[in-house]
Formats: sequence, structure tokens, C-alpha cells
Amino acid sequence: METFASPEELHAWCAAQKRLGRAIGLVPTMGSLHEGHLSLIRAAKEKADVVVVSVFVNPTQFAPNEDYEAYPRREQADLALCQGQGADAVYLPRPADMYADDASTWVTETQLAKTLEGAERPTHFRGVCTVVAKLFNIVQPDVAVFGQKDFQQVAVIRRMVRDLNYPIQIIRAPIVRDPDGLAKSSRNAYLTPDARTAALSLSKALRGAQAAVAAGERDAARLEADARAVTTAAGWLPDYVQVVDAETLIPIQTVLPGASAMLLACRRGNLRLIDNTLL
Ligand code: PAF
Repeated sequence: METFASPEELHAWCAAQKRLGRAIGLVPTMGSLHEGHLSLIRAAKEKADVVVVSVFVNPTQFAPNEDYEAYPRREQADLALCQGQGADAVYLPRPADMYADDASTWVTETQLAKTLEGAERPTHFRGVCTVVAKLFNIVQPDVAVFGQKDFQQVAVIRRMVRDLNYPIQIIRAPIVRDPDGLAKSSRNAYLTPDARTAALSLSKALRGAQAAVAAGERDAARLEADARAVTTAAGWLPDYVQVVDAETLIPIQTVLPGASAMLLACRRGNLRLIDNTLL
């Protein structure tokens, strides 16, 4: 497995792979890899001949009051996990490798990125789109894999890919959950045992919505109210609980099974978790 810090060296290696006729899969991550990330690497290996994993805690997607400094970093463990999954290359740049001191160019998606996470974190998707566009330019992958856990992120990136004519297939890989339902997340490292137990209310709320839809409920407002009640009872205050069209992320009043999703974000003290499900 190759490792790179320099964008030029990674770009040259990827170009050589392409000259050999190999399709490249990219798995962008912020490291602190868990089973969810490993499932993305496996999905990329199914679709491509060589897989590049990027491990970069991207400063531009964190607001000044957010957890950029505290975000868990475990580079040696990440490298071992990538090797174990058969990744071909890992890109581990430092911030200075990715951003010039006077960098002044941004990629912004102006529609899907405004609501939900974007309303709570107004500069977040600008940072995500910019770093993902840069990774796409450096690697020039044929396929890139992102986790459904960040449902809105995948929708925003798909829109960016369409609008900017990137010839890249975007795969949305299913959420990986602990056996008790908690969605895997690097930020779960912040949870105390009590908070973790209470956090199970998020997946419980989503399972409740799924069951209600399976039983015939179509009223989005009722589904949202029930999901809110479940998380609030466990001490998590919702930033949003929203039933949306799964592609446009526009809020809907009536669930269309198979084409709708419920997205939620909840706070408890200074903890914040997101989760979602297709309905
Ligand atoms: O989902 C993430 O971990 C990040 O937002 C991403 C896509 C790697 C960009 O920094």
C-alpha cells in the first residue's frame, strides 16, 4: 500500500494507474476509521481496480466554534485498517498540503446545502464541496463512495458532480450500525456511557417512523412529531426532524414510500448527533 502527503505525487501515481487502464475508486474520509468507513472501502473495491482512501480532517468544513481541534485523529491505526481492507493508496495530507495560506477559491452548492445541516452550520458544505472537489481533481477517480450516514452530504456532492460535469459515479453506501442500533460515527468517541444509552433514541425514533410507514402512515408531520417525542424523552433536543424527498431534500407532507427519507439532528449539552433513514 502506497502512502502520500503530496497532492502532486498522488496525482502522478493516479495518472500512472489510469495509463495502465485501471479504474480508480476514491473513499474520502476524515480518519478515525470505523466499520462504517471499512464498508465504504469494500464498496469501492467492488467497483474499481484500485482504491485510494483519503484521511484528512478538513479544517474548512468546521466553524470556529466546532470540534476541529478535538476531532479524533488516529493515523497509525487508520493506515493499518486501510491495509487490512486492501486499499492501494492512502492520502494523508497536512492542511498546508491542501490549502495555500492565501487560498481564496470556494466551491459552493447553493440549494441543497442551505437547509437542515446547512441551516445549522452555514459554512459546512462550502468546506465539504471545496475539499471534495480538490480530492476529485487530485485523484480523478472513476467512482467515489460516501456513507448514507451523511445523507445530505451525498445529495450535495451528487449535485456538485452533476453541475460541474465531473465524470465520477457517486455511490451512497448504507449506514453501518452497532448491534443496538447506534449509527457508527467517529464522533461517538465523545459519548459517555449515559449519553450513548440516550443516543439510542435517535435510531429508535427512525425505526418507529419506518414501522409506521410500513403500517400505512403517510403523514410526514405526524411521523416527525412522534420521532421528536422519542428523542426529547431521552434528553436529546432536536435541531431538526424532517421528512424530505430523498433526492431534492425538499420537505414533503405526504410520504412516498421508497422516495422519501427522515433526517434528524439532535443535541445534548455540547454533543450533537445526526442520523437518517430512507422511508
Ligand atoms: O464525510 C466526511 O468524513 C467528510 O465530510 C469528507 C467527505 C471526507 C470531506 O472532508
